Amino acid sequence: MLRTILLGPPGAGKGTQAVRIVEKYGIPHISTGDIFRDNIKRQTELGKKAQEYMNKGELVPDDLVIEIATDRLLRDDCKKGFLLDGFPRTVYQAEKLDEFMQAHGGKIDHVINLEVGDDLLIFRLTGRRVCKQCGASFHVVNIPPKVEGICDKCGGELVQRADDTEETVKNRIAVYKEQTMPLIDYYTKADNISTLDGAAPLDECFAEIVKVLGE
Ligand code: AP5
Ligand code: MG
Repeated sequence: MLRTILLGPPGAGKGTQAVRIVEKYGIPHISTGDIFRDNIKRQTELGKKAQEYMNKGELVPDDLVIEIATDRLLRDDCKKGFLLDGFPRTVYQAEKLDEFMQAHGGKIDHVINLEVGDDLLIFRLTGRRVCKQCGASFHVVNIPPKVEGICDKCGGELVQRADDTEETVKNRIAVYKEQTMPLIDYYTKADNISTLDGAAPLDECFAEIVKVLGE
């Protein structure tokens, strides 16, 4: 059983490492950001509501996020564990998640906190490109695609995320510090958090994660 949370500022590498973690451990990847982006693409009511906040780099209101996250956790594929990416993001969300876990006879096993300095976060996010078709993530300098603008995996078009402009990135980092960083204390008290160097090269960072989660 592996019930894990990936914590860290925008651009820390949560999504990038998540792809490797779920492949190795065979658990579902639950990214609230991805769920919102999918809803925005389909212009659902949820998507329309979330879009307003996301484009400004603000957090989507707690009640909306908690509902979609707990609904997702109730699905059968989460019985063997799960990897939460970008949820919880406020102390209130963390408390609600704990209540949910207790009500379902479980608990969070590990919190992996990826630490990266602000300048590197800005460099990573303004240079990130994502595939419009399959969602794969690249970086113009760090992880360039073989052909510029084209996804290596599916041949789809690579685009910049709407919230990856420098101005919005700076606001997302400020919002992270104010609203999400207190979770480090919250999970330190619960004694299940490991802080790792998210600035390390991809393979090194993944190897550290595996040390925490176990072979
Ligand atoms: P979300 O989608 O969760 O975005 P985020 O937390 O801002 O984080 P990112 O996805 O931008 O970064 P990441 O850590 O995944 O980095 P990545 O691996 O891509 O949330 C978006 C929005 O949705 C929020 O702003 C909010 O509005 C809303 N939302 C979502 N959840 C919510 C919640 N719970 N409550 C309220 N609102 C919520 O890497 C970044 C780049 O760096 C890539 O280009 C990558 O290739 C490169 N890179 C990564 N690791 C390395 C490495 N080790 N070496 C070199 N390059 C690397
Ligand atoms: Mg992400």
